[in-house]
Amino acid sequence: MSRTVLCRAHPSLALIKYWGKSDSRRNLPATPSLAVTLAGVHTETRVRPATVDCVVLDGAEQPRERYAPFFEALRRRLRTDLRFHAESRNSFPTAAGLASSSSGFAALAAACVRAAGGQLAAQELSALARIGSASAARSLFGGFTLLPAGARAARQLFPEQHWPELRVLVAVVGAQAKPLSSRQAMEATRRSSPFYRAWLASAGSLLAEAIEALQRRDLERMGGLARLSYSRMHAALLASEPPLLYWLPATVTLVRECAELRRRGLGAWETIDAGPQVKVLCLAAEAAQIAAALQEAVGAAKPACGEQPAGGRILECRPGPAPEVRVEEE
Ligand code: PMV
Repeated sequence: MSRTVLCRAHPSLALIKYWGKSDSRRNLPATPSLAVTLAGVHTETRVRPATVDCVVLDGAEQPRERYAPFFEALRRRLRTDLRFHAESRNSFPTAAGLASSSSGFAALAAACVRAAGGQLAAQELSALARIGSASAARSLFGGFTLLPAGARAARQLFPEQHWPELRVLVAVVGAQAKPLSSRQAMEATRRSSPFYRAWLASAGSLLAEAIEALQRRDLERMGGLARLSYSRMHAALLASEPPLLYWLPATVTLVRECAELRRRGLGAWETIDAGPQVKVLCLAAEAAQIAAALQEAVGAAKPACGEQPAGGRILECRPGPAPEVRVEEE
């Protein structure tokens, strides 16, 4: 049986970051990660069986080799020799450190399995999506998720209703795709950063404390731990050879603006992935005030050489659901 299927999936924002692989062939993470799935941004992917595998993302055909391990694993798992055509759109900038690969591979996995007439449990879909991108393993679940170090699949720790007041403000400070993929940058960090071992060693204790803070819905503690996690990850990146720096001037402006907001008594806790964007954890009651301050700060920031002025687009997200799949045509 084969059909056209549409899947909408949401990006997984890591509060405690995954960075580095314990097994690069199987794409297993070297550090545990704790994340929230974000409503307010999404990837939509339409899949139909085809004669060759082809992924078109925001109108551009993607390199086959990036997707080959995923499609091979999919066919082995479903015991099929079907090929797939996938057309995907992101509601936010692609490959710019907004976790587009998490929602992208989650949507692709869920849509392909259905298009092939198969049915897999969320854990199995998570393991499949992980082959494409480890953070995608988390996007298969709504709410708050955990991908343990070395694990083949993620799991949900708390549903999205656990912390309905939590907001994530996403400040898009540069829409250009990143110069180095996460995969390449992780490998460079492992190979050349003297801080990589220290990064791995500190990940476990950050995670344990963060799970407790999340359980108590303690924004101040959670925010502080999220800051430590991204700062240590970027410190390891910066110590690589050659040094890896994803930040733009506006990124630093926003880090400082969050510190200023906290000094004024507002709960604004930033985190940064493999790109220049800044995501700010806060509570619904303060979200509008914090968003306005971020907008003003980023609007005034000087663009880096070759970058368009940031413009200061702020997206407001909240804990979101698991992917939704719809069969369009039998
Ligand atoms: O899953 P990947 O290969 O796109 O790597 C994601 C890495 C970070 O976004 C920086 C951290 C994370 O845990 O999502």
